[in-house]
Amino acid sequence: MTQSTPMAPNSLSQLTLTRPDDWHLHVRDAQALAAVVPHTAAQFARAIIMPNLSTPVTTTEQALAYRERILASVPKGVRFEPLMTLYLTDTLAPTEIERAHQSGHVVACKLYPQGATTNSDKGVTSIEKIYPVLEAMQKTGTKLLVHGEVTDPDVDVFDREAVFIDRHLEPLRKRFPALKIVFEHITTQNAVQYVKSADQNLAATLTAHHLLFNRNALFKGGMRPHYYCLPVLKKEVHRLALVEAATSGDPRFFLGTDSAPHAAHLKEHAQACAGCYTAFGAMSMYAEIFERLGRLDRLEGFASHFGPDFYELPRNTDHLTLVKAPWVLPESFAYGDALLKPLMGGETLAWQTRLGA
Ligand code: NCD
Ligand code: ZN
Repeated sequence: MTQSTPMAPNSLSQLTLTRPDDWHLHVRDAQALAAVVPHTAAQFARAIIMPNLSTPVTTTEQALAYRERILASVPKGVRFEPLMTLYLTDTLAPTEIERAHQSGHVVACKLYPQGATTNSDKGVTSIEKIYPVLEAMQKTGTKLLVHGEVTDPDVDVFDREAVFIDRHLEPLRKRFPALKIVFEHITTQNAVQYVKSADQNLAATLTAHHLLFNRNALFKGGMRPHYYCLPVLKKEVHRLALVEAATSGDPRFFLGTDSAPHAAHLKEHAQACAGCYTAFGAMSMYAEIFERLGRLDRLEGFASHFGPDFYELPRNTDHLTLVKAPWVLPESFAYGDALLKPLMGGETLAWQTRLGA
């Protein structure tokens, strides 16, 4: 990190970081790619691409073809590398893991408990069913990315992450101690404590929206569907634990936006889709939080170092500069024939981002 002024970290006017990566991202497919991929590529050098397309990405061939479609949407002159994942199902063959690993472009598999979130209907019904696949992942060093919520309808929606830890994550880690697992988009103090108490093979991603907002945001002035995502926003005590983890310098907590675009008319709907679109202003949103805590000096570790270190990939060598210059996040973007409304659209953010030092 180079600082352009000798001021205290919390009163910087400019901050140059190793270029960050986004370790959890949804970019969808077809026309949506052209709308959202440039937003991410303007800040992040790489992103872990979630496989929950309407037809999930379950084979190496599909992942490689999807990768090409994403690359076709990257603006000329911008370096951006999609890191691909496979979607685990009850029937995925362990041999597919070997094939995926050999491709050199698939770095992880995503475990969606069936019914947990958007496009998870083909997800895993019971983790025991995929033990042979997890064995193959452990052997090849393929990372396991977990949507950590139980789907049991008897469990309160705000408790689903905490219950997942005891019922599934702990037994899973015991059975596959050498499997590297990312507990994705954690939202609770329980998850923070669990990750801290675990060994180096467990890490967690943190979204900007879970760091910035608690569940009151969902209801402020009326129901606000753009704040609805899964796992759902939690109480303030949980948000504070997430902020502490993100800004602590502990390398097991790193950046994953979970930016999840949905057409505005499907968010502003009686059954609103889950997912917040944060990609466009992502690094500005994270900077906002770290600055508030007086911890801008720890943003680079969280955004640019700890992710590649966990994934055993090289850190980026190019840079992203954050400039303190207030700007207003656009209210909407074109999204195929529809509109895409970003979280915090119309609001002012303090930091702008520029590629390069
Ligand atoms: C994601 C989506 O829309 O694909 N939605 C969300 O609320 N986060 C899926 C997910 O990551 O759970
Ligand atoms: Zn997600």
